[in-house]
Amino acid sequence: MKRPDRHVLISLHPRSSAFIPDTFSTFSPRDVSRPGMVYLRPPMADRNTTWLNNLRGRFVVFDGPDGSGKSTQFTRLDAMVKSAGIEVCEVREPGGTYIGEQVRQVLLDPSNTDEVDIRCEMLLFMASRAQLVAERINPAIEAGKLVLADRFISSTLAYQGTAGGIDVADILRVGQIALRQTWPDLVVVFDVDLATARKRMNPLLRENEFDATHDRMEIKGAAFHQKVRQGYLDQAENDPDRYLVIDARDDEDVVFDRLIDGLKQKIQ
Ligand code: TYD
Repeated sequence: MKRPDRHVLISLHPRSSAFIPDTFSTFSPRDVSRPGMVYLRPPMADRNTTWLNNLRGRFVVFDGPDGSGKSTQFTRLDAMVKSAGIEVCEVREPGGTYIGEQVRQVLLDPSNTDEVDIRCEMLLFMASRAQLVAERINPAIEAGKLVLADRFISSTLAYQGTAGGIDVADILRVGQIALRQTWPDLVVVFDVDLATARKRMNPLLRENEFDATHDRMEIKGAAFHQKVRQGYLDQAENDPDRYLVIDARDDEDVVFDRLIDGLKQKIQ
């Protein structure tokens, strides 16, 4: 007898790793209009997920320019992996630890825009990362969990390196001190053009580029975005085994399908 379709819903939470749900439940199709819920099409819910076991004990980074949609994809993959019974440690940068969240406040405070030297900025990101690696990432990998990171050193290479002007080789050297052996197994780059990225950013914030509520990383404008994007593409070109570039211009279901296809090929 044909099993009835199950319609799967996951909660949409703020990006903070602390808010990503531990479980997800099934609801009737009537519930799809519930606020804050995302509807996953039945075919995806029924997919064979055995391959997801290959993610145990791996370290995967989601990265890309502001407005790339990576955080939405992060939440979707996170729910899918957990539903397959795999433990996940979710981290986001900058932040993710008690120390790191304090560094985050300094880095993203718009009133610091003119104060901070680019090298100081790079070192602050890296300092937060060193704490994150020691306190959360290494123990999770050792426990056989999947570590899913929203941004990592690939962000520093793109933002402070290619776009900010610091030699990427210098950043990699600092990375060797901060990360030691803990480099990602895979960096997924969500690639978007500026027009798509702008549409995805909060429209209230987009209206006035210098609005004080806009975080200071997002007020740098089009040329900066273009360089950031190029920074990610350069990294992927130089290290094609470790990087997976996803065309993230389409709607989120299409992008998620691309992500899954790419992951299956890369994680074996
Ligand atoms: P955040 O509010 O966390 O947004 P999101 O990750 O969803 O874009 O902002 C993080 C900002 O910090 C973002 O503009 C990228 C920037 N950033 C760097 O410039 N260098 C880094 O090393 C990291 C981790 C982030």
